[in-house]
Amino acid sequence: MRKNIIAANWKMNGSLDFNNNWFEEFYNLLKNNNKDFNNIEIIIAPSFLYIEQINNLRTYLFNKFDNKFKIKLATQDISEYENGAYTGQVSVSMVKDFDVDYVIVGHSERRSLNNENNFEVARKTRKALENNLKVIACIGETLEQRENNQTKIIVGEQLDSIIELCSDVNNLSSNLVIAYEPVWAIGTGVNASPEQAQEVHSFLREKLAKYNKEFNNITILYGGSVKPNNAKELFNQQDIDGGLIGGASLNAKSFMEICLAAL
Ligand code: PGA
Repeated sequence: MRKNIIAANWKMNGSLDFNNNWFEEFYNLLKNNNKDFNNIEIIIAPSFLYIEQINNLRTYLFNKFDNKFKIKLATQDISEYENGAYTGQVSVSMVKDFDVDYVIVGHSERRSLNNENNFEVARKTRKALENNLKVIACIGETLEQRENNQTKIIVGEQLDSIIELCSDVNNLSSNLVIAYEPVWAIGTGVNASPEQAQEVHSFLREKLAKYNKEFNNITILYGGSVKPNNAKELFNQQDIDGGLIGGASLNAKSFMEICLAAL
């Protein structure tokens, strides 16, 4: 089922104090604007080290709002392995100990800085889905690829490798979320125009439907320099179901404005 999702990717940012302050500010904003957020899922992906703290903070928020409003918790990566000699990696069973709902896989920073390839991203996706974690799988082309008219080839290949490995997993259309994040738009302040983003989203949705009619309902997010002043126009596009937000999510007020733009 297509869901409206606004996800915060905090990357390697945050501290115990920062996180507490962010939640306090977000709580005050929620309390004061009195909106009903039932139609969107709000997700926060902190560094692994702060998962437990954010889990506690979101429970605190949940209690404050009569158990009606629960922020979802995500990790920024996950191991494709169960356990063992994988120094520095974190497994699905570990994150499940902390009530994590989602894992992000294949972020372009991991693809470029950690040399993750399409197959590895697909294996991580399958591992998480098989263990009842929801997945936000990121795909996107570089500037050079866009300029060489390769956008659809590149994102098509990235999508294919995930779907080919995971198409038989139960409830794929409700548990898998795709995030289209053009690499040239991430952290640059230059977002894809709503038309550019919509074109790729509709291509991805058609491609998904060719695998299985039901996959037409997979949620597809846009990410890359989403800010309060461009969010609404992007989210208004027919095939854009929300956003994966980096820089602007570190400011509780900006993040709230982006959430409001999705209502
Ligand atoms: P940005 O990052 O919003 O800072 O461009 C998006 C992302 O990397 O997910």
